[in-house]
Amino acid sequence: MPNTIVIFGASGDLTSRKLVPALYELHCKGRLPEQTRIVGFSRTPYSDEQWRTSLRESTEKFVGDAFSAKTWDEFAPVIHYHPGSLLEADDVSALGRRIGEIEGEAGATRIYYLSTAPKFYEPAVANLGAAGMAAETGPPRRIVVEKPFGQDLESARRLNEHVHQVFREHQIYRIDHYLGKETVQNVLVLRLANGIFEPIWNRNYIDHVQITAAEEGVVGRRAEFYDGVGILRDMFQNHLLQLLTLTAMEAPSHFDADAVRDEKVKVLRAVRAMRPEDVQSDTLRAQYRTYRDEEGVPNDSQTATFGVVKLHVDNWRWQGVPFILRSGKAMSCRTTQIVIQFRQAPHMLFETGPKAAHEANRLVIQVQPAEGIQLHFHTKVPDQGMKLRLTDLSFQFKEKFVGNMPEAYQRLLLDVMQGDASLFARADEVELAWSIIDPVQRGWGQSSGPPLTFYEMGGWGPPGSSEWMRLQDRQWFDVCPVLK
Ligand code: BG6
Repeated sequence: MPNTIVIFGASGDLTSRKLVPALYELHCKGRLPEQTRIVGFSRTPYSDEQWRTSLRESTEKFVGDAFSAKTWDEFAPVIHYHPGSLLEADDVSALGRRIGEIEGEAGATRIYYLSTAPKFYEPAVANLGAAGMAAETGPPRRIVVEKPFGQDLESARRLNEHVHQVFREHQIYRIDHYLGKETVQNVLVLRLANGIFEPIWNRNYIDHVQITAAEEGVVGRRAEFYDGVGILRDMFQNHLLQLLTLTAMEAPSHFDADAVRDEKVKVLRAVRAMRPEDVQSDTLRAQYRTYRDEEGVPNDSQTATFGVVKLHVDNWRWQGVPFILRSGKAMSCRTTQIVIQFRQAPHMLFETGPKAAHEANRLVIQVQPAEGIQLHFHTKVPDQGMKLRLTDLSFQFKEKFVGNMPEAYQRLLLDVMQGDASLFARADEVELAWSIIDPVQRGWGQSSGPPLTFYEMGGWGPPGSSEWMRLQDRQWFDVCPVLK
């Protein structure tokens, strides 16, 4: 079945930076289904040709060496553009007619991609409904909604209700691009395709789990938008909680969208609700020193650009094993890691040195960059009596497989075309994630919450963060990145 991908917000950043480069690379690999067309829709008065020219330039910039003028010329004719406002029902109807002409009588699976500012999601959906463009009387009609899906639980519920008035749940694909990353999907493969990890993947062997998404970059030109969002909404509600659910979930009975998402939802339901006193003791928030100098940020902004949240998953497997989530901008380096910190050997016979308390086995899943996995274990230092040192076994994707890691959007766009929603968030999943984050967000806005502290750029967040870990008799595993 042919596909038409209709991009709302076509002249925006995401379209030129991620979506079109991903579709172009799929075309280069011969993976783009035959007769896939792209139709851009936004207010900028481009012609087809002008939009293609602008996308050629941005795609060349973003795909780098993978770009070839010849392949682009083969690809470009699938790109079309229709100017109009998604706020105007007549414009959306006119868009529907234009798509109809492009598709011809045979029709196509239609994918409406909302790549606009979130405030336009509701009017876009309403106008698609009013124009009769959502009904599945013929080929499938799907809608992709970018993050953020709501601002809090209440707005996410409202948005779900609104979208459900026009689209049914099976037509809705809520994107979290972390799920499109190969290493994130590999968490499930590591856990569920290997027999040796399952027996130790629980409270009997694991002391705690650290999930870190550190970014070297500052908020820069997104500052004005970011100031109304902050680190919790930007990274924790979606990406970090997705990493937590994949690490903590039970094995589904089979690998399909609902079975996988049912298990993830069970984990989110088991996350202990945070009371105001927990927010005070189990979270940290901070801002990098020059944040208030960014354009569009008020000089008394309280927005956190760094956060730590300690969560508990109340079930048999994880009782007593904290999941410590951390993310920050302007950090030492870009690294996303899941660190499974095992318990120490019950009785240590050998000399382990002063750091011994923290030097137990560790499994580090390096999500990005330098994608791979490392297992840390003690080894005898040769010719030094019975002195030990923590050494490692390392696996790196780039050493074992040829080719670059594909951009997350390639996989996600293909999955939408194929109607596979496994890597997309379901309505209940998004709402549960907000219900975990909301109390923290509320606590951070109150004087009883943890104070906002400040940190220098290029480090590992505020000094209080290491101190906080020390008080728990634990230590951050801060290596940039663990694999080279
Ligand atoms: C986005 C956030 O969802 O994820 C950004 O809005 C963040 O602030 C980005 O920089 C990180 O994504 P990645 O794939 O670079 O880790």
